[in-house]
Amino acid sequence: MWSEAPRIGVVGATGAVGREALAILAEWGVPADRVSAFASARSAGTLVPYGTGALRIGDGAHGAWHELDLVLQCAPTAIARTIVPRALDAGAAVVDASSAYRDDPDVPLVVPGVNGHLLDAAPRLIASPNCSTILLVTALDPIRRAFGIASITVSTYQAVSGAGAKGLEELRRLTRAALDGIDAAPAAFAEPCAFNCFSHNSPVDPTTGLNVEERKMIDESRKIWDAPGLRVNPTCIRVPVERAHSESVTVVLSRAASTADLRTALSGASSVCVVDDPATGRFPTPRRATGADAVLVGRIRPVPGAPTDSAGRSREFALWLSGDQLRKGAALNALQIAHRLSARCAVHVSHRFP
Ligand SMILES: NC(=O)c1ccc[n+]([C@@H]2O[C@H](COP(=O)([O-])OP(=O)(O)OC[C@H]3O[C@@H](n4cnc5c(N)ncnc54)[C@H](OP(=O)(O)O)[C@@H]3O)[C@@H](O)[C@H]2O)c1
Repeated sequence: MWSEAPRIGVVGATGAVGREALAILAEWGVPADRVSAFASARSAGTLVPYGTGALRIGDGAHGAWHELDLVLQCAPTAIARTIVPRALDAGAAVVDASSAYRDDPDVPLVVPGVNGHLLDAAPRLIASPNCSTILLVTALDPIRRAFGIASITVSTYQAVSGAGAKGLEELRRLTRAALDGIDAAPAAFAEPCAFNCFSHNSPVDPTTGLNVEERKMIDESRKIWDAPGLRVNPTCIRVPVERAHSESVTVVLSRAASTADLRTALSGASSVCVVDDPATGRFPTPRRATGADAVLVGRIRPVPGAPTDSAGRSREFALWLSGDQLRKGAALNALQIAHRLSARCAVHVSHRFP
């Protein structure tokens, strides 16, 4: 697709996901002169860090998309709906981290280690899934391949930076205020996020009782696995963590397995890291997951009282995972898509890819 190092535009470069995308591109050694950074008119002309230097922000409303091979769309969904068609019209390929095109049947929704084969058709527009969904399917895909999955029940523990840079600022502001004995009003969330947990800040559908985040986890995992009837029962909760989401998962398999079988399946997946040491109490945590490319999985155990076969194997297991939602849950996944789009892409970091 690209005959030389791709010219990459990062839209939303001042935000939580865009900054992470720039950090990864710099880590991967992509030269600064191949990367353009865009944000809103408010930020145009300011600088964002890139490696040891900086990039000047351009106004996303006036991006010279025809000068780019790839656009990494990391601005909010409403902005994506304007910028993505312009970039496609100008001839760039687009990887969109927003939810604008995820449910479009003509747009592949890709987690490279799970359904990366969809990139073989060289689509021009690819959607990167919701962060909680990416972490869930990345952790469960090795189990699904080995034993099949009949249903999933999942509760999320989602970091405030999942709501962007403003969520992070709010946690810091409200935590400082609370420690100073001040009852500061929330702005980014309806509930105070410091020293608190609350139902995910997306609207609840009065008919289904599901909030938008939960709906995304159901619809997107079904689309990624091409499993329209898969039973997924999520409860999405925001917790006072800066970065990296965690999930408590109960999975019902199609075929019985032992705990050792699950560990073996998970240990063989490069995008998963088993962190499960009851002797030392070392399990996945958001802090441990922050900055990691892999999803950390631990506390792997059979559901108590679930039926077992004559060999003691069960179909029902519980596990706990933590994953960096700005990295594998957003920027890294989008860049892994970009990398897989072209074998000739100048991003030479194959050891990072599943
Ligand atoms: N945060 C996560 O964990 C996560 C995970 C997966 C997917 N996503 C998705 O990734 C996208 C970005 O999320 P985020 O958390 O990084 O949000 P964020 O921190 O609020 O950043 C939003 C970015 O979009 C830019 N922007 C706003 N209006 C724009 C415009 N008119 N033209 C161009 N750029 C504009 C902002 O620029 P200014 O600074 O100039 O306003 C900023 O750079 C969203 O679609 C989100 O759903 C987020």
